Amino acid sequence: MSVFEAVPLDRLRERTSVKWRFFEPDVLPMWVAEMDVLPAEPITHAVHDAMLRGDTGYPHGTGYAEAFARFASDTWGAEVAVDRTALVSDVMMGAFELIRMLTPPGGSVIVTSPVYPPFHAYSRHAERSVVEAPLGDDLRLDLVAIEEACARVGGVADDGRARAVLLLCNPHNPTGTVHTRAELERLAAITAPYGVRVISDEVHAPLLFDAEFTPYWTVDPRGLSLTSASKAFNLAGLRTALVVGGDDTAADLAGIAEVVSHGPSHIASIAHVAAFDEGREWLADVLDGLRDNRALLARLLAEHAPTIRWRPGEATFLAWLDCRGTRVADPASAPDPGYIGLSTGPAKAFLERARVGLSAGEAFGTGGANHVRFNLGTRPDVIEEAVRRMGAVA
Ligand SMILES: Cc1ncc(COP(=O)(O)O)c(C=O)c1O
Repeated sequence: MSVFEAVPLDRLRERTSVKWRFFEPDVLPMWVAEMDVLPAEPITHAVHDAMLRGDTGYPHGTGYAEAFARFASDTWGAEVAVDRTALVSDVMMGAFELIRMLTPPGGSVIVTSPVYPPFHAYSRHAERSVVEAPLGDDLRLDLVAIEEACARVGGVADDGRARAVLLLCNPHNPTGTVHTRAELERLAAITAPYGVRVISDEVHAPLLFDAEFTPYWTVDPRGLSLTSASKAFNLAGLRTALVVGGDDTAADLAGIAEVVSHGPSHIASIAHVAAFDEGREWLADVLDGLRDNRALLARLLAEHAPTIRWRPGEATFLAWLDCRGTRVADPASAPDPGYIGLSTGPAKAFLERARVGLSAGEAFGTGGANHVRFNLGTRPDVIEEAVRRMGAVA
């Protein structure tokens, strides 16, 4: 039995986090990046034991970084220097703070749209301009567009900071694209002359199918990666994350303010350490279940919704569905990066007419119009019902 069949639908509906509570009960929630699984048992035990010991204080030491280092070495053959890491409360707050720290007010954040909507929103909240260098038609990085963006907004500010950073998503949410080592080396070479610093969000990296993952800190000595067990091990409610820097980032990491380093939860760190060290068999089962769900989605789309196109990515439980050829496509649909993004384009139609809750592609920026993001981390029967419903209106 797949890990995605362990929790019956009525028990999923009892969950109180956003996925199952945001919509009315007749809507199938296929949106936010939570998976409908039970946690790896070692995580449950580690948290339970910590509670029984009353170990509910502040985090201390480098245990999280050391556990991630073991995971990165065993999984990707990548070495982490523990003294070039810093704990932050979560991936996006880490990104937010790095943006604020590395660029001056009025600086820019280059994003490779269509990309995770908070990349736009958090950059704007940091009072930086969002500059898009959209993915190519092949859903891979467009290195020419990136170089043009660097030339336009890069350079060094009067206070010595970078005028721009590039916020990379590797693996890429929503497409599942895994950037190759060659692409990342080229990215490092392109950005360096313009003084553009790269912040790489690598939270989806443990969710890899048949691809090789290259952590950005291994190709760029000035690169800063962000990681966490939160996506792959389904621990979004247990908030902590890690910055991992390249060889030349010691000064950057030392500059992370106490207001940031104070954020991570100790209990969350205990959970994430158990995930990286003892959750690997569970992760392999999740990946097996996702492989099955991906095959199922391909089959169901062909059978029930042939106007929806999908090019499976190489990572993540997210499927980026191209609805441009469907009856619910909206010719006037325009990029509208909002936080949740449920109220435009095909996602709106699927919600209203099929009672399926999806993330609207329009929220992901340029390239997202008339696409929806579909979460495969759920029960196969839920996937089947969702696609049948979508097919009836697509
Ligand atoms: C690419 C990406 N980054 C960050 C996050 C959120 O991570 P956190 O909750 O640690 O900020 C998500 C969640 O879906 C994500 O997909």
